[in-house]
Amino acid sequence: MVYSSKTTGSGVRYIEKGAGEAVLLVHGGGEDAQQWSVEIEGLAVRHRVIVAVLADLTPPEASGTLRRLLDDLAVPAVTVVSRADDAGAALAFTLAHPIRVRRLALIAPPLESLVAASLEDIRCPVMMTGDASSLERHLARVGRGRLHPSPRTPVETGQLLQEFLSGRLSSFDPRELRTAFGTFMTGVTIVTTAGTDGQPRGFTANSFTSLSIEPPLLLICIGKGAASREVFESARGFAVNILSEHQKDTSVLFASKRPDKFQHTTWRPGPFGNPLIDGAAAWFDCARHQVIDAGDHIILIGHIEAFSYTDANPLGYARGGYITLGLEQAAVNAASSASRTIVGAILESDNRLVLLPDHRPNGLSLPEVGRSGASGSASRLHALLAQDGIDATLGFLFAVFENPGSGEQCIYYRGEALLHARGRPVLASFDDIPWDRLPDEATRSMLRRYAAERKLGRFKVYSGDHRQGTVRAVE
Ligand SMILES: Cc1cc2nc3c(=O)[nH]c(=O)nc-3n(C[C@H](O)[C@H](O)[C@H](O)COP(=O)(O)O)c2cc1C
Repeated sequence: MVYSSKTTGSGVRYIEKGAGEAVLLVHGGGEDAQQWSVEIEGLAVRHRVIVAVLADLTPPEASGTLRRLLDDLAVPAVTVVSRADDAGAALAFTLAHPIRVRRLALIAPPLESLVAASLEDIRCPVMMTGDASSLERHLARVGRGRLHPSPRTPVETGQLLQEFLSGRLSSFDPRELRTAFGTFMTGVTIVTTAGTDGQPRGFTANSFTSLSIEPPLLLICIGKGAASREVFESARGFAVNILSEHQKDTSVLFASKRPDKFQHTTWRPGPFGNPLIDGAAAWFDCARHQVIDAGDHIILIGHIEAFSYTDANPLGYARGGYITLGLEQAAVNAASSASRTIVGAILESDNRLVLLPDHRPNGLSLPEVGRSGASGSASRLHALLAQDGIDATLGFLFAVFENPGSGEQCIYYRGEALLHARGRPVLASFDDIPWDRLPDEATRSMLRRYAAERKLGRFKVYSGDHRQGTVRAVE
């Protein structure tokens, strides 16, 4: 497509195509708008696309020129779109003329232009594409910003812009949405394929869903930013390996970008040719059934050609951390083998910590049972809490450790509490825990960890021998 530019009354060169809501493409590359042609053609179906030709202008100069262009064309407000180095000009214009910018899309902006700009002052919705780890810090400075993995092709860039323009890209904070999705507890899989070039490829995925028994189908979703996405899209099939609880390291390996993932794991080709990871709790070797484009992911539906399973415990995943059923089992075993078991809970009510007065003058403890009399158990803990008008829901295990002096086994759960009566319970803010009133260092260090992990929204599970300092995060 060859575009011929026009010149406005005040001498600004531009290219124009289509009709509808105005989109301003900031283009520092001189006359040649060919690089934008796919995006221009796609957007012009429903929009008035104006390409500003801004060769060799500094961002402040470009900002002034863009304003003159819009004044000359009598366009009150636009969506501004820039690519790569033109981000500086787009940002300068958006910050200088906020009421003229409805939305701002920065395709692959260079970090220098983000560092230099007062992103905090941007008032319109912003979309950036690029690598999450380097851009997220800058995006956090933009109130209504969102980040997308880099589109691979101009067609994808066009589609993404269409969605942004249509307002279909939500204005939710993507990190918040990810955190909310993360409350759904899943297993962990490694999805593999033999690839077309004979090089095995694989990535960690928890988007696995069993889909159909007859015909036997399953699905997984692969992000459009994954390095192996094209290989999976075109492969004749793929395998899903459901990891067992001892394979956390394999999960971490396959969630990395390392090119040599298969050299660090033992595997064999499956009946349909896709790599099967040794030690998996189950595997499904599939033929490609359907590939569906969906937002920033692609859905791969596989037709199961062969499968197998073992009785190994599967690895779990929730809220950004790994969960092992075996650890829950270890707690049960510990409880049955120890001479005495203490069962306690770190309970939250209205975002505050529930503490109970203990036998010491002014002393406060976590709700716990088993220090005297019979060994503790979750049901005895519930009963104790009920006496104090506390309706507790015990959630995940937080810590399992042995007190070597006494041989006591200590098991602490996380949980939520509803307080039905005033009286004994004391509610403490997590920023102001009464540390000196707590019974021992074990409780203090456990609560310090809890408060720190709570801030991050990620809880680990700890096990070991507390006094000897070997309490470890079981990730
Ligand atoms: C527990 C867990 C689950 C994940 N689930 C998915 C998923 O379902 N789909 C996906 O595309 N990436 C998922 N990822 C991220 C990929 O494993 C990661 O981006 C990986 O680098 C992709 O590999 P590649 O870039 O070499 O293709 C997950 C990561 C972890 C740790």
